[in-house]
Amino acid sequence: MPKKIYYESSRTLMEFRLLPGLTTPETILFNISLETPLVYSADQSHKYQLRIPIAAAAMQSVSGAEMAIELAKLGGNAFIFCSQTATEQAAMVRKVKKHKAGFVKPETVAPEMKISELNNLRIQRGYNTFPVVDADHHLLGIITKNDYDVKPHGDLPVSARMLPVASLIVGGNISDIKEANNLLRETHQSVLPIVDPQQRLKYLVFRKDIRNHLDNPLEVVDEHKRLLATAAINTHDYETRVPALAEAGVDVLAIDSSDGHSTFQAEALLWIKANFPQLPVIAGNIITGDGFDYLVEHGAAAVKVGMGGGSICITQEQKGTGRGLATSIIKVAEARDRYFQKTGRYIPLVADGGIVNSKDVVIALALGADYAMMGRYFARMEESPTEKVTINNKVMKPYWGEGSARARDWKKVRYQQAMFAEGVEGFVQYAGKLRDNLPETLAKIRASMSSVGAANIAELHEKAELEVVSALSIREGNVHDIYMPGTEGDYNSINWGN
Ligand code: IMP
Repeated sequence: MPKKIYYESSRTLMEFRLLPGLTTPETILFNISLETPLVYSADQSHKYQLRIPIAAAAMQSVSGAEMAIELAKLGGNAFIFCSQTATEQAAMVRKVKKHKAGFVKPETVAPEMKISELNNLRIQRGYNTFPVVDADHHLLGIITKNDYDVKPHGDLPVSARMLPVASLIVGGNISDIKEANNLLRETHQSVLPIVDPQQRLKYLVFRKDIRNHLDNPLEVVDEHKRLLATAAINTHDYETRVPALAEAGVDVLAIDSSDGHSTFQAEALLWIKANFPQLPVIAGNIITGDGFDYLVEHGAAAVKVGMGGGSICITQEQKGTGRGLATSIIKVAEARDRYFQKTGRYIPLVADGGIVNSKDVVIALALGADYAMMGRYFARMEESPTEKVTINNKVMKPYWGEGSARARDWKKVRYQQAMFAEGVEGFVQYAGKLRDNLPETLAKIRASMSSVGAANIAELHEKAELEVVSALSIREGNVHDIYMPGTEGDYNSINWGN
């Protein structure tokens, strides 16, 4: 006999509908907040709050640096994939952290450094502007690549070519980007150094970044106003990968596995806690309350929920393991809520795999998830790291699973069963820029929450009433009993006069 048999079928997100609650002025579209925690944080640090409940999956065909930068600017988060070398992945993390979002904690140089050394550093780091500081971090000046020529100046010290602090306009006690903007506007400088009352350098604000920042009010940034960078890891090489990612400035890690209820994840969680206690780790994927309890007991700061539902996933077919995403979320959310009652620690749940559209996102949230992770949705965007192709006159982008033969080729780590694939490869229709697609998705999520009468995601969890729908009901909910011309030819044949 098996340990247990559940005779009630597991449910998918498609099988649920939300019932409307009371909509009030507080819950009209523009008043709805989509903020949500990325990971548990004891002091509820703002850094770990997403502004929108959407994350891009850690996949080769989805989340490179470009997606991570654009999605963080728009309030969400993309997990940089780990099916590449640690060095390559760390370079992507570094690119995200280097992408400037207002206040920058810059790398400084000493006044005695030789210009030739500075030039090497500039090439190595890719920065053009370096503040010059003394041993106590007092600002002495600024040097940019326009201030020297290596041939004549190579042997001179930086102090000989820098623009000294006396000739610069410097900001003190400024923490608001708009204030920095006002001051910068009055100068001819391209960069504004911000110092503390003792004239020690705190930040640089670059003119070119300000416009960018003001255009992205939702951007998710760290305490130094750099975009948040998150990265996937595996349970095989974390002892070398995590140090490389930490060195690159990663903010949050996520263990990437199709089955996270394992001692390997517990070991990885404990190792990271011992060696990099400042880094929260998201663990998973799991689909049971037991899986949740196990991972959280070992220190998971959030948990990914879902197995077998991904659009490219053949785990259920290959291994016979899995569960409908709705039931997975319900079961794990029960365990999460119990854990919260007991400890006061709220562990965010990430609904992952098979989330197709805004309707699925909102149902997943209503069932208890805190944000949704999607692969296919993002693979269609300009910012995914793939090239467009044309198939039958349709513009498409390739999309493949991390367990597909194509992804596993880099090194057979994610899915150890190198004997068979757990994912497939295919194409998805190109959708354009993320910035042009996301607003509609978010507007629909807000509209659903407005109907429920929920002003934020915590209220959605409390107030949502959901109902299982029958197959006939789903049919009724689709367009029916009208004729819709399907082709241009059909339209051209319409005789509007009769
Ligand atoms: P999608 O949003 O439905 O395309 O699903 C994306 C999710 O599928 C990812 O976040 C992973 O959890 C999961 N996934 C990625 N690659 C594979 C695979 O090759 N096999 C099974 N699941 C996968």
